[in-house]
Amino acid sequence: MTHRCFPNGLLTRRKALRLGLGALVGAKGVAYTGACAQRQNLFSTKNAPIRNFPVNEDTSLKELAAAKGLVYGAAGLLRDFDSNSRLIDTFVKECSILTPEWSFKWAAGNSLLRPSPTSFDFTAPDRIVEISEANNLLLRGHTLVWHSSLPDWFMSEANRYNAEHLMTNHIQRVVGRYAGKIYSWDVVNEAIEPDDGRNNKLRNSPWLEFLGTDYIDLAFRVASESNPQALLVYNDYDLYPDTPKGEAKRAGVLSLLEHLVAQGTPIHALGVQSHLKGDDLSFNPNKMRSFLADIASLGLKILITELDVNDRYLPADIEVRDRIVASIYEDYLSAVLDEQAVISVQTWGLIDSQSWLQSFLPRFDGLPLRPLPLDSNFNRKLAWNAIARSFNQCPERIYE
Ligand code: XIL
Repeated sequence: MTHRCFPNGLLTRRKALRLGLGALVGAKGVAYTGACAQRQNLFSTKNAPIRNFPVNEDTSLKELAAAKGLVYGAAGLLRDFDSNSRLIDTFVKECSILTPEWSFKWAAGNSLLRPSPTSFDFTAPDRIVEISEANNLLLRGHTLVWHSSLPDWFMSEANRYNAEHLMTNHIQRVVGRYAGKIYSWDVVNEAIEPDDGRNNKLRNSPWLEFLGTDYIDLAFRVASESNPQALLVYNDYDLYPDTPKGEAKRAGVLSLLEHLVAQGTPIHALGVQSHLKGDDLSFNPNKMRSFLADIASLGLKILITELDVNDRYLPADIEVRDRIVASIYEDYLSAVLDEQAVISVQTWGLIDSQSWLQSFLPRFDGLPLRPLPLDSNFNRKLAWNAIARSFNQCPERIYE
């Protein structure tokens, strides 16, 4: 698949990487055409993006987003907020909304919201709520029903007789406790997996196994009863690739959402996790636009929920890497932000050193990844510029 920015569609980014990259992705010698003329600024020299970039250094991503009716934010770990006071200041500067990476999961990292089938430990989420309130950040709750991040006891204790109570009680207690404090909830996460072979493309999760296909509708109904004001979201990943798998995933998510909307499930938005890859060319802006338009036609809003760009397979040279990562941010955002139903963009982290990818999908040469808008010294990178320019150039949201 060709990168839309290379002339005549003849040069793939992968090919460029193989061919010795510096000249090509650094692009000093490449004749860009049409839609990509502006990209030349981003690619031309190390300082060009800042020099030519029409963004006031005093501004922030949240302000640029807000100017278009968008909400920008990022995910963060409670442990990082508690150990580095600079982090919260940076969040406050750049973000309007925060998603705690661990604190609302049943179990993640050193955070255990559900120590046992009958108990809750609200210490971490309470603290996150305190931080968000003290700093005037909106909060996203992530996530209530997921096949992953379940505590060790879950598989031995949960069964088809108690799973409904486990799930509904969890939602009532957690959503109810934070009613009025959480702007939006990822009610169900990652329920579609075409590879699992079902006609409806639902994932073989314990929730499906114990409760059957209606568990998704039930989760949304209970969440809505527990907090009628929250924006209730279905969140899923790998919706962007123009591959047979991506096609199947989009089809599965679309038909799930069609079904939920048709039966009156209180669902308000699709969360599009956007874990992009620096070496992956399988993004087709038009297919993505058309998928998002289909979602919007159901009356749903769309949130870009977990945006990052993994540079693990890109060359070690930081200048080259940062340019490719920035170009991917801009290619992606310029396409998805064309859809008016997209109301929010959130990166999965703000500071490179704190990205989950550093441990989850690291580079083979051991160099730190650079997947986020700010580097490990909290400085803005080309990725920041690319996001800023995407906000600057996207259409303003019109809210009725
Ligand atoms: C990841 C976190 O970033 C990690 O720190 C954690 O250990 C595992 O989960 N999709 C999701 C997120 O919905 O919850 C995942 O977050 C990343 C993929």
